[in-house]
This record gives sequence, structure tokens and C-alpha cells, in this order.
Amino acid sequence: MKQVNLYVNAANRKSKINKEIYGHFSEHLGRCIYDGIYVGEDSTIPNVKGMRKDVVDALKEIKTPVLRWPGGCFADEYHWKDGIGPKEDRKKMVNTNWGGVTEDNSFGTHEFLELCEQIGCEPYIAGNLGSGTVQELSEWVEYMTFDGISPMADLRKKNGREKPWKVKYLGIGNENWGCGGNMEPDYYAAEYRRYQQFCKNFSGNELYKVACGPNSDDYHWTDVLMSKINKGISKAISLHYYTVPGEWSKKGSATAFSKDEYFTTLQKAYKMEELIVKHCEIMSKHDQEHEIGLIVDEWGNWFDVEPGTNPGFLYQQNTMRDAITASINLNIFNQHSDRVVMANIAQVVNVLQSVILTEGDKMIKTPTFHIFRMYRDHQEATLLDSYIDATTTAENATIPALSQSVSMKEDGSILATISNCDLEQDYEVTIHLAAKCAKSCTAEILQAEIDAYNSFDNADVVEPKVYNGFSMKEDTIVVTVPAASVIALSIK
Ligand code: AHR
Repeated sequence: MKQVNLYVNAANRKSKINKEIYGHFSEHLGRCIYDGIYVGEDSTIPNVKGMRKDVVDALKEIKTPVLRWPGGCFADEYHWKDGIGPKEDRKKMVNTNWGGVTEDNSFGTHEFLELCEQIGCEPYIAGNLGSGTVQELSEWVEYMTFDGISPMADLRKKNGREKPWKVKYLGIGNENWGCGGNMEPDYYAAEYRRYQQFCKNFSGNELYKVACGPNSDDYHWTDVLMSKINKGISKAISLHYYTVPGEWSKKGSATAFSKDEYFTTLQKAYKMEELIVKHCEIMSKHDQEHEIGLIVDEWGNWFDVEPGTNPGFLYQQNTMRDAITASINLNIFNQHSDRVVMANIAQVVNVLQSVILTEGDKMIKTPTFHIFRMYRDHQEATLLDSYIDATTTAENATIPALSQSVSMKEDGSILATISNCDLEQDYEVTIHLAAKCAKSCTAEILQAEIDAYNSFDNADVVEPKVYNGFSMKEDTIVVTVPAASVIALSIK
């Protein structure tokens, strides 16, 4: 067993880890909304106002802080007025991006905001700049948030909602470099400036406006956009990056993969670190005060769809490999929480790296779900300075074997999350706690064969377990981190 030291300086408190880093993303894509979240009030599946009870309860368990909707590329063709009023009168449209299926708009603004109220999370609306008008977006904001007499507030009341909702997060465009209009950055920036101008703060509701940032390593986009915005008109810019082990035409299976593919996936997941560092460097050139945040509002593993499923529905299983990459990404976001203010894994149910999968009335929690559960106490805690004193290169790859982040709550309790992506090598990690006297420690571990997953017949193959593989000595905790595992230590 290799031995390393993890130094934690509890006196060096860094940035606050915004709870929104643990955010999710829902899109009208495949079975994410229909089947996955919304089954309608007449369904035999237990529901509250049409929302699946099992799914809402699971999302509450991981303290889902924020949910982005209605897309994705779907948002770039979404016209919100099609999704309000009596359901039988709502327009039916073609979901051109995702399988060409009929979208009946039975889940619209009221249903989404009801869902957020049931979960107890902030809504994050992705507005349509690509094919919608300025008036349309401006009226959507008025419809949702204005408390008074106005055409849109009156329409909302007519549709059964007297009081406005609070809607803080407003994305103005999605992937405008691609499915959101194929724009050049300076053109988008000019459009952004115009659209945002007509999105007003009504009735005490203060909008947090998000501009569409870069695709992956498009540093030019970030540079141009940042030169054209300021904190007065934009609180954050977004970044999209997916981990695709192969080529887009042959991404690789979610469950049947070789050791090489496993390490390629991890290597590509680690690219998130490089992207954040480089985009943040550019952001800092334009914004030294860190007044504009970075929101990674689409991230996660993207594999080939499960055999036999609709290729447009992006349904994939979720293994221990997904748990490891989720842990790496969340540790990266925590470590950069001075600039990364929100992140939204794609997507919450039945699409890409989901935390929940459903089939009829059955629901399973994926390995990725368990990572969000084990990490939930990082939400709103303060990042502590921490580092590992040795290079821990994973076999066959140029990536670190160990990934970690450590945070402290206001009551002084510490959460340390450590993952080991090596497939052979266990590590003995001695955690040195400067400026903190540990009185007690409890731990949980997620450990399974790297291709193990939870299925509808066997839902608890990959589940966290209480872990006793540690010992406490004065100011240190010595913990064994087995190969291919993720550990969360709660230290009091
Ligand atoms: O998450 C699937 C798609 O990926 C989203 O609709 C789009 O924004 C991105 O390209």
C-alpha cells in the first residue's frame, strides 16, 4: 500500500462552496421530463400534481439546490406561451433536436415552477435567444415575477397563479455558438446586451443574468464575451464540457468498456481542471475583482445510448466509473469555488449521466446519485486549503490517482471527500489537520467493480456503506482509500 500525506489547514479558509455547484439540469429530451419527472395527475404512479413522488423525494435527499430548464438545445426552440393555459389547448410541436417526437407542452412554466417548489430548489430558466424574440423573453420574466396589474401578470392569474414566483437565475441563450444560432462571439455579445436590457427586476425579484459562455476550450469566445459585458449586465457566464471517451460518432459503451477506455474517460474528465483554470485566467484579465462567476451548466459523461433505445433520447446506464468521474469533477468545482458559482450535471433523470433512472413505476438511484449524497455537506461550507504531498499517478495514465477536497461548516465540522481512481493500488492517506482538533470521525465508502451498476432488478449493487478503515491519532486521521473507491469523512 502506498502512503501519502493530505495536509489540511483549517485556519486557511478559502472560498464559500455555493450550494448551486451541486445543481442539476432538466431538458425536454427523451424520458427526462415525461416519464422521468412528470407523469400527470391521472397516472397510477404516485405523484403530487403530476410530479413523481419517488423522484422528488430522491432529489430532496441530495438537497438539490437548483434546476435548469427547459434545455439545452430544446430551449433554443422553446416558446413559453405554448406551455401555459388549459392543457388541451396547448400547441403540439416537433422536438427537432431530440428524436423528432411530438412535444405536447403539458409540462410548461407552471409545472416547472411547481416542481421546484416541491423539491425546494431554485429555478434556473434558460431563455430562448436563438429563435425567440426580445419581447418574448421580456414577457416571460414579467409573467413569472410581476406582482401587479399588467398583461402578463393578468394572464398568469387567469391561468391559476395569483402570486408571482421568485425566479433568480435567468440564462440568456443556450449554446449560441452551436444549436442556439451558430453565432460568432461578438454578434452574440451584442445580442446578449440587447436581450438582457429588457429582462427587468419586478416586485423585489432580482434577476441573476447568465450569458452564454464557451464550448469546451473555445478561449476566444470567453475573451470576446468578457470584453463586452460587465457585472451590471451579467452576473456569470456559462461553460459546457462533456466527457466523451471516444469520437462523437462512436463514444463508447456506458457499461462495457476496457481498462484503456476507463483511463481515457478519466483523463478527459480531468480536462475540466484545465478548462476552468484557462477560462478563469481570461476572465480575470477582464474582471480582476471576480465579480462575474463561471457556471458549468452542462457537464458529465456522454456515452452511446443503451442498445435498443431511441438514439435521440440519450439514455445511458451509470456505473462506478461515473461515480469516480463525478467525484473528480465535484472536487474540481469545490477547489475552484472562488470563481465557479454553479454547476449543473446533465441530466437529472434518464438522460446522459443521470442521478436517477426510471422504468414505469420503478426508480433507481445511480452511483452518481450516491456521490451527490455523500458530498451534500460541502454545500454552503467553506473550502479549506488542502494538498496531497506526493504525485499519485494512476496506472496507464498521466492523471493523479487521488482527488480530494475539504470543507468546513460554520459549526466547525469538516467534510473531506477523497477518491482513488487507480484500479490496483490502495493508498494509506494520513490526514494532518492543522488548526483543528478532531474529536470524532465517521466515514462512508462507495466501492464496487468499476463497471458495476444498479439495475431495475438489482437496485443496490452500488451503494455507500459505513466505513471503518481509518484510525485517529492526536492531530491525524489515517485512512485507507482502496482502489476504485470514493470516501467521505465527516470530522467533528
Ligand atoms: O445535454 C444534451 C445537449 O447537449 C443539450 O441540449 C445541449 O445544450 C448540449 O449540446
